[in-house]
Amino acid sequence: MAEKSGDVLDRVEREKEGYLAQLEEYLRIPSISTDPEYKAEVDRCSRWLTERMQRAGLAAERIDAGGHPLVYGEWLGAPGKPTVLFYGHYDVQPVDPVEEWRHPPFEPTREGDNLVARGATDDKGQSFTHLLAVEATLAERGTLPVNVKFLVEGEEESGGAAIERFVTEDAGARLACDCVVVSDSSMHGPGQPSLVYGLRGIAYMEMKVHGPNRDLHSGTYGGAVVNPLNALAGILSGLKDRATGRITVPGFYDDVRELEEWERREMAALPFDEEAYKRDLGVAALDGEIQYPPPLRATVRPTLDVNGIFGGYMAGGAKTVLPAWGGAKVSMRLVPDQNPEEIGRRFVAHVQSLAPPGVRVEATLLHHGKPMLITTEGPYFAAAMEALADTFGKRPLRVREGGSIPVVDTFASVLHAPVLLMGFGLPDDRLHSPNEKMSIPQFYDGIRCCVRLLDRVAEVAA
Ligand code: BES
Ligand code: MN
Ligand code: MN
Repeated sequence: MAEKSGDVLDRVEREKEGYLAQLEEYLRIPSISTDPEYKAEVDRCSRWLTERMQRAGLAAERIDAGGHPLVYGEWLGAPGKPTVLFYGHYDVQPVDPVEEWRHPPFEPTREGDNLVARGATDDKGQSFTHLLAVEATLAERGTLPVNVKFLVEGEEESGGAAIERFVTEDAGARLACDCVVVSDSSMHGPGQPSLVYGLRGIAYMEMKVHGPNRDLHSGTYGGAVVNPLNALAGILSGLKDRATGRITVPGFYDDVRELEEWERREMAALPFDEEAYKRDLGVAALDGEIQYPPPLRATVRPTLDVNGIFGGYMAGGAKTVLPAWGGAKVSMRLVPDQNPEEIGRRFVAHVQSLAPPGVRVEATLLHHGKPMLITTEGPYFAAAMEALADTFGKRPLRVREGGSIPVVDTFASVLHAPVLLMGFGLPDDRLHSPNEKMSIPQFYDGIRCCVRLLDRVAEVAA
């Protein structure tokens, strides 16, 4: 029997080179949301995307919810049919260290099967598949089998405050839907699709250690005055127990939910080559809680990492100074049922208790997002499993990922709709690193998978 989506898939096959060229156009816009210098570019990117949605046949507009604009689009011509809300983000990470890129990060470059550019997979390439699938279906059939809404944000990489507000205030009015589709994660490997049912949350802290009232000569004062950077190093190294890899913040693990039996089983069955993992990263040993295997440490267990340390003399050469202050940014990845704000409070109290006399520690929660788990039951999850299986030729694994997409929890709780984390990235895509890339075959398969998903979801009773 001919495949139901075959008509549209044929069109995708004919048009795919053009789709790739359009992705390149999208990638040329340096929409770095964290850096205020790029505000105009983020704005330009939101306009590009709005126009692109309109060209695809959607009613689309930019929405100002404070912060960078949201791009919203919809096509609601299938009354009585389910409504799919597609989420993605058009902002990208900064590019530094820029000298490590083989080509300028905003000049997309094809290298064999890969397209190298900042945002190639996170998240322009992945989320663009949604729009192209909808466009191809509309173009081929003049109609869609389901209703679609698009909400694409411009500040996911910098905390996502605007979308959080917008979704909460909307409370399911304009955004009412039957399922949410997110493509902003990775497959388990090439040819091994996966459907993500859990993401870690995050509590992102900034701390500052204050010492003497001014920078001092380290020769005339050193030895007698507490050095805030020395104190900071001591505090930071006290946050983890060296022998066990456990985080020392009191109560940190209290609310961590144990894995269910089937999760344990499925995770243990995932292939993992520790030597290859270390070789790829150029490290001789791994870190973390000794009683868990590394793949679990990086996905279902909570973490604490220093993201940056600053203060004192940072320029070239040697300047002898006993700095007045030192600071650090620390992120904790959280798992169900840890509460990010509660963990933030515990962290503040703990770093203050670790401070030696003679310095004062200030710490604040910069931003946070809840961990999440979605049910693997129900017809929408099954539809996504089938679309993935049909496209990649193998039954998808159900996996939990270590990254965070804070708005996903808000979608689930405000819209009461199942969220399908259908990522098309590959593990070696170098997200947030120099030479980020998207596999071009994954990009095309992502489009095909979304085409199939639309036809599959249409069969679910709305
Ligand atoms: N797409 C990632 C999150 C991700 C990566 C999920 C890999 C699953 C697998 C997203 O763009 C991201 O980087 N999120 C940030 C969120 C943070 C700024 C709150 C993260 O995880 O660091
Ligand atoms: Mn992303
Ligand atoms: Mn990201």
